[in-house]
Amino acid sequence: MAKLWGGRFKNNTSEIMDKFNASITFDKRMYEEDIRGSVAHSKMLAKQGIIKEEEQKKIEEGLFRILEEIKKDEFEFLISDEDIHMSIEKRLIEITGTVGGKLHTARSRNDQVAVDIRLYLRKEIKEIEDLLKELQYVIVKKAEENKKVILPGYTHLQRAQPIVFGHHLMAYYEMIKRDLDRLKDCYKRVNQSPLGAGALAGTTFPIDREYVAKELGFEKATENSLDSVSDRDFIIELNFVISMIMMHLSRFSEEIVLWSTTEFGFVTLDDRYSTGSSIMPQKKNPDAAELVRGKTGRVYGNLMGILTVMKGLPLAYNKDTQEDKEGVFDSIDTVKLSLNVFVGMLETLKINEENMKNAIYAGFTNATDVADYLAKKGMPFRDAHKVVGEIVLYCEQNKKLISDMKLEEYNKFSELFEEDITEKASIEGCVRERKSYGGTAYVEVERQIENAKKELKIG
Ligand code: ARG
Repeated sequence: MAKLWGGRFKNNTSEIMDKFNASITFDKRMYEEDIRGSVAHSKMLAKQGIIKEEEQKKIEEGLFRILEEIKKDEFEFLISDEDIHMSIEKRLIEITGTVGGKLHTARSRNDQVAVDIRLYLRKEIKEIEDLLKELQYVIVKKAEENKKVILPGYTHLQRAQPIVFGHHLMAYYEMIKRDLDRLKDCYKRVNQSPLGAGALAGTTFPIDREYVAKELGFEKATENSLDSVSDRDFIIELNFVISMIMMHLSRFSEEIVLWSTTEFGFVTLDDRYSTGSSIMPQKKNPDAAELVRGKTGRVYGNLMGILTVMKGLPLAYNKDTQEDKEGVFDSIDTVKLSLNVFVGMLETLKINEENMKNAIYAGFTNATDVADYLAKKGMPFRDAHKVVGEIVLYCEQNKKLISDMKLEEYNKFSELFEEDITEKASIEGCVRERKSYGGTAYVEVERQIENAKKELKIG
């Protein structure tokens, strides 16, 4: 079958070239956007008197018929048609005859593909946003349920200071909040219409680009035709934003992997989100968390891929940019799937309060509080740090916890200790006293949760 662009050719392309050149296998997912873009373009052509109203009607009807055919799985996608744009246009000409051939007036596939991908990404960004909000919702719910559960906070993966589990969870709420901000910002640059840029230089037809932009719900038409057909910044940006989301999910996953070990035992994964071993009957593996962590790698790969594709491209359109799609599609699919699984895994995660508590006591996590106590009584913090270091050593040698010490023992290290040290060095006390803005004190965690609930509009 002859190509739509076959006029200047004597021979057909080879089969392997067809295969190499084609993007239909992956760009067919933009069929709805391609049709929407074409309908808007045809309306504009009619409004401007470039085609007749009845021609536009026929084109629009034909396009909607094709939409139905694709949805019903009755449409034939052929490698020889190259891409979604040519497939649909060829079918339109089959349906409407010569009228269909007028649709491509004042348009090129270069601005067409740019508009399609922008429409498509707009839709996907909204879906990712919804999933992120769902995750935030689960985080807040879990944080609220666990706002009094105390566990060690870590630095260098060494027990550091006691914190509440709700506080730990709310840290992830903040990360997701920034991800949502980034998506919103990226959306602004996706949401501009390149249609009407033509192949690269604009067109001699009296088109109305703003009208098309409005029809398609874009904020505005892009400014420069060369940039319009060659800009893929917004795709790179989305790849980056998704990479960042995956990085956050991956860190969280790593914690869940650690916490679910026998060594930690802080959480137990629900059977629905864990798997067994084919040889070791006792095993219950955190595959969901591991896969989220693992899939982050391929998402980073997609970001590096498109950055590298773009780095050497002269203006304006180059076929290299066809390579923009598979990576971003894969990243979108991956982040959506990961978020769905993650939400389920987190929602069903069982928190082992006792194990968390035991880990605090064993870890001298109240040492800073004892030093702070001395500093508040006038001892320079550096000296207090040294004194408490000696107390820790003493406890280690005598196999006891700081909280087990009697006042006489404390006084061997400093006369500044008084009766109230027992309360101040208690784990409860340590948490309650960290009232600085954003700290782990119950009141502060409650404030974070309340704010989050307002943001998510949950009561
Ligand atoms: N399939 C192409 C792409 O994804 C569409 C644009 C083709 N334009 C061209 N001049 N060959 O980039």
